Amino acid sequence: MVNTIEIDLGALRHNFQQVRRFIKPTTKIMAIVKSDAYGHGMIHVSKELSKLGVDFLGVGDVREGLVLRKAKISTPIVVLLGISEEECSTVIQNNLIPAVYRLDIAHRLSQEALKKGRIQKIHLKIDTGMGRLGIPAHEVTSFLSKIRSLKSLEVEALFSHLACAHESDEEYTRFQLERFKKAIVEAKKMGFSLLYNHIANSAAIIDYKEAHFDLVRPGIMLYGSYPSSQFKEKVSLKPVMTFKSKIIQIKRLPPNSGISYGRTYITPGEALIATIPVGYDNGYMKSLSNKGEVLIGGRRAKIVGVVCMNLLMAEVTNIPNVQVNDEVVLLGSQMKDVITAEEIAERAGTISYEIYCALGNRNQRIYKEEP
Ligand SMILES: Cc1ncc(COP(=O)(O)O)c(C=O)c1O
Repeated sequence: MVNTIEIDLGALRHNFQQVRRFIKPTTKIMAIVKSDAYGHGMIHVSKELSKLGVDFLGVGDVREGLVLRKAKISTPIVVLLGISEEECSTVIQNNLIPAVYRLDIAHRLSQEALKKGRIQKIHLKIDTGMGRLGIPAHEVTSFLSKIRSLKSLEVEALFSHLACAHESDEEYTRFQLERFKKAIVEAKKMGFSLLYNHIANSAAIIDYKEAHFDLVRPGIMLYGSYPSSQFKEKVSLKPVMTFKSKIIQIKRLPPNSGISYGRTYITPGEALIATIPVGYDNGYMKSLSNKGEVLIGGRRAKIVGVVCMNLLMAEVTNIPNVQVNDEVVLLGSQMKDVITAEEIAERAGTISYEIYCALGNRNQRIYKEEP
C-alpha cells in the first residue's frame, strides 16, 4: 500500500483532554464524529472516545448511527441532521436520538414510539441565526406548544449552532446566545425539563464559557486543528492525521521541459522530478497545482505542474540522495518539519475541515498508538 492515512489515537486522547480543560467537570461532551469523524474513521474514533467517557456521539445521519451501533458502540448517539419519516422506526429500534425541527417528523416519531410502547428522546434544533437547519427562533414557542401533547416524546435538549464563534467579532455570537437562552427559558416555563442544552462548537468551547450550557460539541479540536488561526495561542492541540505516499519514479529532465497537463510548469534549468501516486481522486485538490508542498527527506519539495487524477509531480533537484520508494509526507510531520491541514487549506483556498474529509475519506487508514 503506497498511500496511507495514519491516525494517531494518542493525539486524539490528548485533544479530548484539552476539551476537558475548558469546561466544568459536570459539563457533558458530545464528540462530533459525523462525516466519518471528519475523515478519521468514526468507529475507531468513537470507540476510543467512549473508553475515555465521552457522553454523546454526534453523527450526521441515521446511516452513520447504524454503523456505530453495528460496531457495538452503546454510547448515546444524536443524529444531527435529523431524520425522515421512513427512518422513525429504525431510530427507535436502534436507540438513536434524532435532531427534530419539523412538526410532521415529531408527530410520526411519537406515533411510532407509542406503537412500540417507548418514550423517544429528541433534541430540538433551533435556528438562532445560522440560517441553516432548525426551528426559526420566532417560531420556537408555537412549535413547543404543538409538541407538548406528544407524550411519547421526551425533549431532552434544545440545541443550536453558532455562525461566527471562530471569528473575532463577538457581537453576532452574543446575539445568538441571547436568542438561545430565551428559547430555553420559554421551554422551561412550558414545563419541558431539558437536561442537556447545547450550542458550543470548538471555537465556543475555547472562547465563550457562557456558551457551554450543559453540554459542548467539539469537532475540529478533537482532530488537532484550530477553528481559526487566532486560537493557536489559546490551546495546544496535536494533529491526529498524517498522509503519506512514496516516490514511484524519478527523472532528470533538461531545461524547458513541460510538466503535466497544459505544461503549466516549465523546468527553468535541468531538474530532478519525482512522481508521486496521489491526485484529486485521493482528495488532494487540483487547486494545489503549482502551489502545494510535500516533505521528502525532511525537506520541502514544491508541487510542479497540474495535480492529476492519480499522480502529482514534485521538484526534488535540491534534495540529496533522493530515491524511488522514499517516503513522501503530504500532511503531517517528517523529521523536523510539518505540513498542517491549515497550511494546505490556506494554499488550496479552503478550511482544514475540508482537507481532513477529502484525504481521510479517500485513502486507506491505519491506526497507531503513541509514536
Ligand atoms: C451541528 C454541529 N455541531 C458541532 C460541530 C463541530 O464544530 P467544530 O468542528 O467547529 O468544533 C459541527 C461541525 O460542523 C456541527 O455541524
